[in-house]
Amino acid sequence: MEKMVIKGGTPLRGEVPVSGAKNAALPAMCAALLTEDELTLHRVPALRDIRTTKQLLIQLGVQLDDLTPGTVRIRAREISDHTAPYELVKTMRASVLVLGPLMARAGIANVSLPGGCAIGARPIDQHLKGLEAMGAAIELRSGYVEARANRLKGTDFTFDLITVTGTENLIMAASLAKGTTVLRNCAMEPEVDGVIDLLNSMGAAIQRESYDTIVIEGKDSLHAAVHTVIADRIEAGTHLIAAAITRGDVLVTGCDTSHLVSLLEKLEEAGLNVEVGQDRVRVTSNGRIRSRDVETNPYPGFATDFQAQYMALVSLADSRCTITETVFENRFMHVQELVRMGADIRISGRSATVRGVQKLSGAQVQATDLRASACLILAGLAAEGVTEIHRVYHLDRGYERIEEKLVRLGADIRREKDELL
Ligand code: EPU
Repeated sequence: MEKMVIKGGTPLRGEVPVSGAKNAALPAMCAALLTEDELTLHRVPALRDIRTTKQLLIQLGVQLDDLTPGTVRIRAREISDHTAPYELVKTMRASVLVLGPLMARAGIANVSLPGGCAIGARPIDQHLKGLEAMGAAIELRSGYVEARANRLKGTDFTFDLITVTGTENLIMAASLAKGTTVLRNCAMEPEVDGVIDLLNSMGAAIQRESYDTIVIEGKDSLHAAVHTVIADRIEAGTHLIAAAITRGDVLVTGCDTSHLVSLLEKLEEAGLNVEVGQDRVRVTSNGRIRSRDVETNPYPGFATDFQAQYMALVSLADSRCTITETVFENRFMHVQELVRMGADIRISGRSATVRGVQKLSGAQVQATDLRASACLILAGLAAEGVTEIHRVYHLDRGYERIEEKLVRLGADIRREKDELL
């Protein structure tokens, strides 16, 4: 195992380019199952979750070639297996994204149920309900979802709640169904639109009829395409918060700033100077941090994937705020670690009250999930003294070359072998 060792206190300064979005690249790779032709994806980040998805696709009989760093050619000429095994799904819940494509292309899928994880129970009942509405027969056996259908058929389906991968799975399934599918109460995250753009370039006919209603006209087959994965808005925002928390000055480039509106609003309210261009944002600190209440919500609300990082920031504010997590029921695992670094945070149900303190102190802390890891990195960058973050493998699931990028901004951060674990 490895740990991250950070000597805090240096204001970050400089320019940092954003990588492709993990949460857009994962469904894009799974979409390759929908055609026997070649799919070429650019801007695929080098991450652990991407490697896991490659492993899963290879197991299903898909051919994968890394053409250059960031460019992958995927060809599912034939699908020889239909199982997403427990061993892979338990390490990466997004493996469930093969369910819709497998059902659409092969009419059979055998996908391990993900089970709970560090941030909540995270059931997939909506994915299954939608597939059933499209005519799939679904059985749960020995921890696996066994789904079958001759050919999925178009339907009119309303999600009971907003789900990102659920929306993506059903869009992919409906793209090869017989007839038209209307999906209501869909997720509006930009990553969903990334999938829609990709599928349309593969010959699908998908459009958002209104913000949360998506209409898919099923096709008999899809074809080859070349697609560039959208920029990672969560990575972009994490670097901006790094500028804010270290009282620095950072320009983030290669992002789509329209995807960052709710975070940028909060940073402005926090007293940061925020300059927005089309594909770049610069955040400059004037020293003070003011906190505001935040409630996480599906897009375009304040993203749950920023909650932990924002909490690190406002733990150093000169005011008090309440952060309410409405998307996942258990996404406060980072709180105890921040408290170990001197933060004053109290949890009550789904809300955390954060009273800003003057300084955080370096400590040994443990990462529990991807965004919690990012939160601890941020806290470590701002803290006095040395912070050691254990179980840092969570970070490698979602942040490409993170320490390299931070070092270029002036951070004192290095990865070391972890003797403790
Ligand atoms: N939910 C259900 N039933 C379902 C599906 C979801 O009850 O069938 C619940 C979940 O338990 C959760 C809420 O609905 O409480 C929202 O879950 P959603 O399905 O939207 O989450 P997801 O699709 O599993 C994606 C991202 C997450 C991100 C969430 C919310 C991917 C691969 N993952 O997860 O990303 O937090 O949407 O925006 O796209 C991360 O990158 O760190 C990460 C966790």
